[in-house]
Amino acid sequence: MFSEYLVDFLPRAKRVIFLTGAGVSAESGISTFRDPDGLWNKFSPLELASIEGFVNNPERVWQWYQHRRQILNNAKPNAGHYAMAKIQEFLPDVHIITQNVDRLHQAAGAKNVVELHGNILTNRCFKCAKAYTKEIDLDSGELPKCESCSGNIRPDVVWFGEMLPEKAIEKAQEVSEMCDIFFSIGTSSEVFPAANLPLLAKKGGAYLVEINPSTTQISKEADECVRELSGNALPNLLKDIGF
Ligand code: OAD
Repeated sequence: MFSEYLVDFLPRAKRVIFLTGAGVSAESGISTFRDPDGLWNKFSPLELASIEGFVNNPERVWQWYQHRRQILNNAKPNAGHYAMAKIQEFLPDVHIITQNVDRLHQAAGAKNVVELHGNILTNRCFKCAKAYTKEIDLDSGELPKCESCSGNIRPDVVWFGEMLPEKAIEKAQEVSEMCDIFFSIGTSSEVFPAANLPLLAKKGGAYLVEINPSTTQISKEADECVRELSGNALPNLLKDIGF
């Protein structure tokens, strides 16, 4: 349940931010990372999501991403993704800043999506950084080689220890610093610099709302916590504000 204050304020807000994490895609059948059945409770992030892991065993890392892409290939946006895209249609300035690499926001019709951790659908050469944006054969587990330098091809995601895409984090910080309402949705707020964005927003005077069935690192900073699944909460918010 959202507060009366939020329901009254949202339609009048000049700028709104949705910061999203793995939880918003959970209802689309995509695993989160830190929940009890999350990916980092089954697999080692150092082996599968770091430069060292890729250098040590590029085939294993490639196969794991191919497996995740196969799951994603059958996934569809859920009611939470659609509700955020719908809110963008009615309000003048709504940014979606996501830590997710699954492109489900865009599949739901969202605009102004800032991808902090890259995306899993495209690739680049590990050695010369040549971009490979065409769809790849999901049934092949074979590690492809760069046609220019024969380097190994890697997914276009951000791994542990890597810098975030500069433009993306700059944009995220700029809009977070000056917004009226900041929603933190489906993220444990354990990973920086994304976890700092709600605090930046608060410092700038924003009203901070968390949507998450569990308590997180930023819960105590939030003005309002809605302990529900995003696929339920966000469509209800749409109804509450009469869109
Ligand atoms: P986490 O797995 O750390 O957190 C997922 C959060 O979603 C948890 O707080 C859950 O309680 C919540 N959640 C689960 N189901 C939900 C639902 N249906 N609706 C709303 N909330 C729900 O995922 P992130 O915070 O996104 O980075 O993780 C951040 C980064 O850590 C990821 O982008 C990834 C990972 O390592 C990289 O790979 C660079």
